Amino acid sequence: MVYETILVKIEEGIATVTLNRPEVLNALSNQVFNELADVALTLGADDSVRVVIITGGNKVFAAGADIGQMASATAVAVSSGNHPSHRAFNLLENMPKPVIAAISGYALGGGCELALAADVRIAADNAQLGLPEIKLGILPGGGGTQRLPRLIGSGRAKELIFSGDFINAEEAWRIGLVNKVVPADRLFEEADKMAKRFAARGAVALNMAKSAVNEGLRMDLEAGLQYEHKCFSLLFATEDQKEGMKAFLEKRPAKFQGK
Ligand code: COA
Repeated sequence: MVYETILVKIEEGIATVTLNRPEVLNALSNQVFNELADVALTLGADDSVRVVIITGGNKVFAAGADIGQMASATAVAVSSGNHPSHRAFNLLENMPKPVIAAISGYALGGGCELALAADVRIAADNAQLGLPEIKLGILPGGGGTQRLPRLIGSGRAKELIFSGDFINAEEAWRIGLVNKVVPADRLFEEADKMAKRFAARGAVALNMAKSAVNEGLRMDLEAGLQYEHKCFSLLFATEDQKEGMKAFLEKRPAKFQGK
């Protein structure tokens, strides 16, 4: 697929996907959702890619779904659509490798929901996050009413969803919406540093650990513990497990092969 709304760069096992519609503050059109879905599948299947960073560049992450495209939509069209945002965000969330959202400026509506589909969020100190859909007479329909309460709890999520207010990076960190706040001019350096730390770990163990957390959140505790145990047991069939433990005992850094 030739991408027109996103840029993709792969360097030393780290893929950076940059939203590229600056004229509309990276508003997420159906084309963006389709391209994000395709890139999630492509990077997910590319063994040379260990970690993915999603960003909107250094000015804005994304100011939400494309309001111009939504304004004239009918209930029938919306309900019978194939939920392009759900498909894109589900594919990103379920990619078998870590996804880091690097957020600068506004991450609103669908932009915030995109960040919620990532595994980890790093915000620049100029970031503003929010779900302003209520002010447009709708609700966050790209997973916001589901992923946000799972991340920060229902009370805080409802306050953001009901008010439509934006919060700054510090407040987003305080309530657990972002993992880390960094000076704006160090955002990409910090995201890269975190990506490299993840990339140094074994790819199969990373995949399993992500799956154990994601799938476990969809289950009750007992089923989640059983699923965790299956993932844990399977890792003893990998060369990385042998290498990781041997390296520890030999007091040297492990060299993981991802198998
Ligand atoms: N969809 C479509 N276009 C959007 C957009 C969106 N979600 N967000 C911004 N844009 C467009 C604006 O229409 C404007 O286009 P124009 O130059 O042709 O008029 C351009 O991006 C710049 O936005 P502007 O509003 O002029 O910038 P600002 O700095 O004054 O305000 C925001 C920035 C983010 C506060 C404001 O754009 C905004 O509230 N956007 C909508 C946020 C939202 O409700 N998101 C949820 C959507 S479901």
